[in-house]
Amino acid sequence: TSPSDSNITWHEQKVKKEQRWKLNGHQGAVLWFTGMSGAGKSSIANQVDVALNEKGIRTYLLDGDNIRHGLCKDLGFSLEDRADNIRRVGEVCKLMADSGVVVLAALISPYASDRDGVRERVNGTASFCEVYVKASLETCENRDPKGLYKLAREGKIKNFTGIDDPYEKPTKPDLVLDSDTKSVPELTNETMQWVESRIKLT
Ligand code: PPS
Repeated sequence: TSPSDSNITWHEQKVKKEQRWKLNGHQGAVLWFTGMSGAGKSSIANQVDVALNEKGIRTYLLDGDNIRHGLCKDLGFSLEDRADNIRRVGEVCKLMADSGVVVLAALISPYASDRDGVRERVNGTASFCEVYVKASLETCENRDPKGLYKLAREGKIKNFTGIDDPYEKPTKPDLVLDSDTKSVPELTNETMQWVESRIKLT
């Protein structure tokens, strides 16, 4: 059942977003890092998290691997499960941004339609930035930080993104980070420059 066919009513909340953001000192926002396993999403998002925190910005990092230990521990890697994973995390991003947090989400999010769904979900509440952490399969496979590409090539992991499952490259990302040629500190700086000019202080 969905709210439209059940007896669930939307309640207006008295404290408004503007009041929370004002108290907070800055607006909420969502930075959504997408890219293949090993592209560097988590490393860059972590460093951006540190840099923003040091500047007094309230942040929170939602990392796909970690979220799958809790909120999404019931989900696997089928098309449907990935879609539900992205939908749930997207909804959490929206709520946290509404509360005044700058949320950094690092998930493979291989399907454009799922990413577009998050953008639509967040838009109207807070600004949304799709950050494409761009790395070739060759780069990711050479790094193979968790040994997962090797297992996927051996057929020991099925539906592995880039090997026997698709990664749909973003066609209109807000920011592209070239992880083939640049280091994590360089890409952290690029992201910070982009973010700092956009997060408004209240
Ligand atoms: S998704 O596609 O957005 O729902 O994936 P995500 O929640 O980001 O989880 C990706 C991490 O799960 C590990 N893993 C896999 N990735 C891709 N395909 C398959 N089949 C798979 N199985 C396990 C992997 O460690 C991913 O972490 P990252 O940080 O991306 O390397």
